[in-house]
Amino acid sequence: MSKWERFLSKETALLKTSEIRDLLKLTEGKNVISFAGGLPDPSTFPAEDIKNISDYVLSNYASRALQYSATAGIPELRQQLVNLSAQRGITGIDEDNIFVTVGSQEALFMLFNLFVDPGDHVFVESPSYLAALNILRARSPNFHGIPLTENGPDLDVLESDLRKLKSEGKKPKLLYIIPTAQNPGGTTLSLAGRKRVLELASEYDFLVVEDDAYGFLVFEGDSPPPIKALDKEGRVIYTGTFSKILAPGFRLGWIVADKDIIHEVELYKQNVDLHTPSFTQFIAAEAIRRNVIQNNLPKIRSLYKRKRDVMLQAIEEHFPKDAKWSKPVGGMFVFTWLSKQKDTLSLLPRALERGVAYVPGSSFYYDYSGRNTMRINFSFPTEEQIRKGIEILGQLLKE
Ligand SMILES: Cc1ncc(COP(=O)(O)O)c(C=O)c1O
Repeated sequence: MSKWERFLSKETALLKTSEIRDLLKLTEGKNVISFAGGLPDPSTFPAEDIKNISDYVLSNYASRALQYSATAGIPELRQQLVNLSAQRGITGIDEDNIFVTVGSQEALFMLFNLFVDPGDHVFVESPSYLAALNILRARSPNFHGIPLTENGPDLDVLESDLRKLKSEGKKPKLLYIIPTAQNPGGTTLSLAGRKRVLELASEYDFLVVEDDAYGFLVFEGDSPPPIKALDKEGRVIYTGTFSKILAPGFRLGWIVADKDIIHEVELYKQNVDLHTPSFTQFIAAEAIRRNVIQNNLPKIRSLYKRKRDVMLQAIEEHFPKDAKWSKPVGGMFVFTWLSKQKDTLSLLPRALERGVAYVPGSSFYYDYSGRNTMRINFSFPTEEQIRKGIEILGQLLKE
């Protein structure tokens, strides 16, 4: 650590640099096939539409689009997000239930900071989204991991943990869940499972933070309605993102929640960054209004489905026979379980030497278990890179 360590706040000291990130950084600018990131395929960015919309916004709204704006988001975008939410089955809300954020990452950051105190009992899927776990880790909660099955989190484990907590006189605080095309697991929770989550939340009185980053990116079968769409008590806080359906560079996300919760988030965001950039909000609002996003979705879905198929076929061909892997129905990742003796963290430097990067799975477990797992991305590499990279990786795993 640096000579400045003695000045760091206690909370900052909890932010560890990740050895994986350091390793992956070494590959930047090198000729490495990367299955490590979570980048959309750039061919899905509707650049021409965005160019036209930018012109339109600057011609018609320059005085507002280049100005400071409201903390909760510009009214035009909040209204359009009410419409977009309806397309995910979330109805009965208005603009006051919507809050615009700098990516859904900021939404998660603010929500976990608003609600989680050290020692609070927090439930997460195991594995779960790395960057959300990192925010939570900085809050020093008591983690409870719910193992992921092929059909989403094991709700029997959730229920028995809740019962145990109750018998000890303790209260759960919140559940963080990615029920649709989970990152990294690729699983989707059934409608019945979603209802059961709500029943448990009501019975044991906790909040549900539902991350729907991939809800619009289900390319096989139906995308079940988000838990938020079934929520009658307002205890579900939903986060969405433009990163996977428009462009991650805009850094735009949103929250759908009870108005009182939105008010708390508003107070918090005033301290963080005053408001989300006005200009990109105008562009996103217009992109929804002109159906740019909706019309682009079928193209994104079919591209990712094709890439997933190429990846699954290559894995089938090249990975060791004792490996297991997810068959994601949406999203951008395949998650792999190798034989127990394999350690994907110590294998990574050798994979990088041979020109392939992935993320060791332990990062996705709140307790850094799952050392025999890895996450591989199929949205960014080309089909040729997927075939070649999986062959190299399969070879290495068989040695
Ligand atoms: C599950 C999940 N949630 C949230 C995010 C954050 O995305 P953004 O901040 O770009 O909206 C990601 C990004 O990959 C993700 O996979």
